Amino acid sequence: SEVFGLIGAMDEEIKLLLESMDNRVTTVKAGIKYYTGTVFGKSAVLCKSGVGKVNAAVTTQILLDSFGVSRVLFTGVAGAVHPGLNIGDIVISSQCIQHDMDVSALGYPRGVIPYQEISAFPADQTLVQLAEQACHDLKQQSMTGVVLSGDQFIASAELVAKLRLELNGACAEMEGAAVAQVCFMNEIPFVILRSMSDKADGSANVNYHEFTVEASERSHAILEYMLKAM
Ligand code: ADE
Repeated sequence: SEVFGLIGAMDEEIKLLLESMDNRVTTVKAGIKYYTGTVFGKSAVLCKSGVGKVNAAVTTQILLDSFGVSRVLFTGVAGAVHPGLNIGDIVISSQCIQHDMDVSALGYPRGVIPYQEISAFPADQTLVQLAEQACHDLKQQSMTGVVLSGDQFIASAELVAKLRLELNGACAEMEGAAVAQVCFMNEIPFVILRSMSDKADGSANVNYHEFTVEASERSHAILEYMLKAM
């Protein structure tokens, strides 16, 4: 039967899933720990990718090649880019873009990967709808929108305005679009779930430290509900 790939970037983001996993077996590849077992009755492989796009890409490709997962769900925190989002709210990925892919000097718009037909990687409709249903049922404020990823912690209202204008971003984080591209290249359905720990502005560093644990818990709650519903 189906095996779910579950990814978070940091300890806080995978902690609750790890505690909920039964019959856990640990395997290490490329320095990343992969926990195989059962979560809420579903076969799953859980891992902590580490921060950034390279960590996320390597972790995801190994998850697909070595563990044969057929769908990938990412849980974690992000900085809000859409002005309607508050700390704690959830963003469900409609698609993911690498905002730090910038070949504008050659005339390509920000986020566009040259010589490639696709740069905005679409999330799986079924997983998006399941996430939306979970947020509705749990009375969790949420928005389905563009998840922007880059190897930068965004802490500038000016940059947020630019990311909103140029890429229609809902939130900014550091892994989702790498997971998305690897899943796309391998034809594996995925969704990125992110709860807002901050607003990616001048207060982002302070808010991030204050709200990361609670935001991680909120994202986890949606993932738990989804796994139970599948
Ligand atoms: N993760 C949480 N907040 C973030 C921010 N402001 N920028 C990038 N990644 C984040």
